[in-house]
Amino acid sequence: MHKLTQKKVLKGLNPENIDFYLLKTVDSTNTFAKENPSDKEYLVVISEEQTSGRGRQGREWYSPNSGNIYMSIRFKDKNDSPLSLIVGLLISEAMDSTSGKKLNAGLKWPNDLLIDNKKICGILIESEVNEDDLEYIVGIGINYSLPKKESWWGEIGELADILPREKLINTILEGIIAYSKNGYKNWKSEWEKRCMHIGTELKVISNNQQDEEIGIFNGINEEGKMLLKTTNGLKSLSSGECSIKGVY
Ligand code: BTN
Repeated sequence: MHKLTQKKVLKGLNPENIDFYLLKTVDSTNTFAKENPSDKEYLVVISEEQTSGRGRQGREWYSPNSGNIYMSIRFKDKNDSPLSLIVGLLISEAMDSTSGKKLNAGLKWPNDLLIDNKKICGILIESEVNEDDLEYIVGIGINYSLPKKESWWGEIGELADILPREKLINTILEGIIAYSKNGYKNWKSEWEKRCMHIGTELKVISNNQQDEEIGIFNGINEEGKMLLKTTNGLKSLSSGECSIKGVY
């Protein structure tokens, strides 16, 4: 396991703009970032373990101290593109540039990353008002290794060799900071290129888990909503109202 240091993680970034915490353990890096607003432009919290890691839709995020990445970044976003999709895209790109090869970490709408049908990364975005400004808390969980009892997970330990943690974190931070300053013009087409289920038939659970809808995934619109071609026509669905069933 590569040891994280502030120097390596923030390499090439301006430390004066970043309030940085590197923790051994914490309940949740997102909760920590929510409770500790900063005067600086960015707050970054990384922990080796989380005792109450949180996932989307109220789920738990299993977070043992086993060399995974648990990180949250808090900042203002003046762009009007859908942050949750952008962050997944930036992480998929960071994985390619860190490893120097096309890893093809596929995007599963809205923002999961999968390699060989295994979920390698999950993203939880929350927001908080700080002195009249809306600030986002982007929580990123990347799984390198999970204990054997998580048998659904299988072996992806070799990822640590091609994706050194400190370098991957550094590249992700670089990407998010650059995006927050300059935006991302072609995000929609780049997201669709990396999506693993364009043109695929999907089952979508919507309406508070009550309805199951089947359709062909026809990409996304400018708001990041999924476009689903159903027997009743093309529907646009937001991540708040539905999730995809059975892709992994
Ligand atoms: C998902 O359900 O897919 C989202 C998982 C997000 C997990 C990360 S780990 C760092 C940050 N802190 C948390 O408590 N959750 C996010």
